[in-house]
Amino acid sequence: MGPLSVPPYTLHITWKELLLTASLFIFWNPPTTAQVTIEAQPTKVSKGKDVLLLVHNLPQNLTGYSWYKGQIMDLQHYIAAYTIDTEMIIFGPAYSGRETVYSNASLLIQNVTKNDTGSYTIQIRKRGDKTKGVTGHFTLYLETPKPYISSSNFNPREGTETVILSCDPDTQDVSYLWWINGQSLPISRKLQLSENNRTLSLFGVTKDTAGPYECEMKNPGSSSHSDPVTLNLLYGPHIPSIFSPFPYYRSGENLYLYCFADSNPPAEYSWTINGKFLKSGQDLFIREITTKHSGIYGCSARNSATGSESSTFKTIQVSEETQENILIPSLCPM
Ligand SMILES: *[C@@H]1O[C@H](CO)[C@@H](O)[C@H](O)[C@H]1NC(C)=O
Ligand SMILES: *[C@@H]1O[C@H](CO)[C@@H](O)[C@H](O)[C@H]1NC(C)=O
Ligand SMILES: *[C@@H]1O[C@H](CO)[C@@H](O)[C@H](O)[C@H]1NC(C)=O
Ligand SMILES: *[C@@H]1O[C@H](CO)[C@@H](O)[C@H](O)[C@H]1NC(C)=O
Ligand SMILES: *[C@@H]1O[C@H](CO)[C@@H](O)[C@H](O)[C@H]1NC(C)=O
Repeated sequence: MGPLSVPPYTLHITWKELLLTASLFIFWNPPTTAQVTIEAQPTKVSKGKDVLLLVHNLPQNLTGYSWYKGQIMDLQHYIAAYTIDTEMIIFGPAYSGRETVYSNASLLIQNVTKNDTGSYTIQIRKRGDKTKGVTGHFTLYLETPKPYISSSNFNPREGTETVILSCDPDTQDVSYLWWINGQSLPISRKLQLSENNRTLSLFGVTKDTAGPYECEMKNPGSSSHSDPVTLNLLYGPHIPSIFSPFPYYRSGENLYLYCFADSNPPAEYSWTINGKFLKSGQDLFIREITTKHSGIYGCSARNSATGSESSTFKTIQVSEETQENILIPSLCPM
């Protein structure tokens, strides 16, 4: 027995012409004999591929089979029926043009689409038994695609912005799981999952909630995992610190000051002396200072991404040159 959807002796009759005939096939009875089982081949089905629903444990002495999309065996859900004696296939409203019913009751679905997922029911009619049928069910799942995490904002400002992460693409009949730092999500008012767990809202993202995040899509047939995503947290500048290699300076020495403030992106720096702008840049170098260089040195750090600015000040007192200190520059060339 070969495939029977195409051979010349197969009658192609539309369901409309055969409403009456078809309605004779439609009845419901609980399964009475050995369990009919259905197996998908291949077991993992991806979009655009073909899948064969193999029927095992077929009873003896059959008159035919009907396949339905879903669990309800009514005309609306009727894909195709095969009648053994006449080798005739009758297609129903749920026939998409891509299904083939074989004489051994297996159903081939070609070029599988999202619409093909869900449950299938086969109804098997036995000879001389007009009121009883045997049914088998199968639920078809598509292989889950590899998900990726999208974010409403990959560069949020620390502690202020709400970020919405989503596990994409939006896929039917899957459940979603999330991880942060390789751990399941902690219970926190700062994290909130949507009803189907596909999106995760982060309120006021901090270093602790910046990630890395991973998500998984799962259905009873397969599961797949995203790559990790870490938010680039914009913060700072924190209060800058001024570093100096020497605790105090004497006339004739070189002044070197360095400023740092934790900030992302890195801060832009500028220097002042007694409130007057001196220069931009993270360090300040003045060769052979004199007592006139005494004053209050200010370092200002600015982060244009957060729009924040922070300053700090250091008093530098330059004392008169003395005999003993002339040696210092040669000992510590700075
Ligand atoms: C049924 O027929 C199909 C198509 O010829 C074949 O691939 C399959 O192995 C057959 N056997 C069963 C148990 O369905
Ligand atoms: C099949 O049906 C025929 C006629 O109704 C009967 O004689 C035969 O025993 C049945 N065979 C099986 C295996 O049920
Ligand atoms: C599969 O379906 C898509 C759209 O549903 C169509 O573009 C494509 O040509 C089909 N491929 C085959 C081999 O039938
Ligand atoms: C999927 O089903 C919907 C409604 O049931 C229909 O509108 C759509 O055209 C179908 N898509 C495909 C690719 O068959
Ligand atoms: C969402 O995830 C929680 C655990 O984080 C789980 O208990 C719940 O059942 C999930 N909801 C859905 C609809 O998958």
